[in-house]
Amino acid sequence: MDRAPGLSVRLKFTLSYAGFLVLAGALPLAAAWIFILRHLPKYTGVDGGVLIRSTLLHDFASASAAVLVVLLMVGLGGGWVLAGRMLAPLTRITDATRMATNGSLSHRIRLPGRKDEFRELSDVFDGMLERLEVHVAEQRRFAANASHELRTPLAISKALLDVARTDPEHCTGEVIERLHTVNTRAIDLIEALLLLSRADQRSFTREHVDLSLLAEEATETLLPLAEKRGVTIETSGDITPTIGSQALLLQLTVNLLQNAIVHNLPGQGTVWLNTRVCPKTVVLTVENTGEKLTPQLVSTLTEPFQRGTERIHTDYAGVGLGLAIVKTITEAHDGKLTLTPRSAGGIRITVELPVVAAHL
Ligand SMILES: Nc1ncnc2c1ncn2[C@@H]1O[C@H](COP(=O)(O)OP(=O)(O)OP(=O)(O)O)[C@@H](O)[C@H]1O
Ligand SMILES: [Mg+2]
Repeated sequence: MDRAPGLSVRLKFTLSYAGFLVLAGALPLAAAWIFILRHLPKYTGVDGGVLIRSTLLHDFASASAAVLVVLLMVGLGGGWVLAGRMLAPLTRITDATRMATNGSLSHRIRLPGRKDEFRELSDVFDGMLERLEVHVAEQRRFAANASHELRTPLAISKALLDVARTDPEHCTGEVIERLHTVNTRAIDLIEALLLLSRADQRSFTREHVDLSLLAEEATETLLPLAEKRGVTIETSGDITPTIGSQALLLQLTVNLLQNAIVHNLPGQGTVWLNTRVCPKTVVLTVENTGEKLTPQLVSTLTEPFQRGTERIHTDYAGVGLGLAIVKTITEAHDGKLTLTPRSAGGIRITVELPVVAAHL
């Protein structure tokens, strides 16, 4: 073990333990010594008394020295063993930390025994490793998915360009149109990724925002899409003040409303958009009719690139980042996102944000 020069904690413990033991032994011996010095002459008034006293003192001194040496040995030996036993959990924790530093996040300390300070430290450390492992796995999955999603439009563009190059005569407007669509999709994807990282960094300016105005603006923007799909939007709610980024919270509302429209029943769907103030939070709720969803499926939808089953049934081919962006924006505003499947089909999504007094 490469440790910088200096006394190890085990040695410090040992020396302290031995020191205390010797001191504890020396005190009564010193008291006895003083007692003998003071009182012995009173009892030695006979001939040879002085000689008896000095022999006694000499014998007492050597016996005391022997006792102190024994105490020192016991203190050093016992202290070393005791300190070793007490510090053993720390060695396990250090080993685990070293393994985690070298990249092995799957190792756990799992310290046995009663709940003491070391056990608490070890449990907290295990919890941290677990969260770190999940986070790293999430990041890896995200990078792999993002690369895959970005490669698809590029591969399609390349195939279209190859066709156009080998047969320029047949390079019709249709090929250009398809190239344009694929290119737009790639740009949308990259913009969604940039938005995700911007929200994640929390590097936006915070201002007063009224969620009910954002809901109205989003409804206005998406009304043509809703009409095209035969979906009715019912918006309700009074002034709902909070603090945050106007642009990001509008993006959040638009994403939720767009989802509620495109992942709805075709031709007969309804969306309910509501904002309200609760005692400690302000709440934006988006609820829509649609296919029946299981709670298991719903719990995975906020993962990046996760798409539900409708992609097969509808013409909407999203990239699967809409809800991941909503979740990141909510968390960046210290809010809470909840997704609940409706028993009649469709989903109910609530975003709870910190409340702000209107006069602030
Ligand atoms: N309001 C909703 N009702 C029913 N299903 C929904 C709703 N919102 C999202 N989903 C499901 O969750 C999936 C993920 O949604 P998300 O918004 O992240 O991606 P997307 O809509 O497929 O693509 P985009 O990135 O373009 O938004 C959707 O594919 C859909 O299956
Ligand atoms: Mg979406």
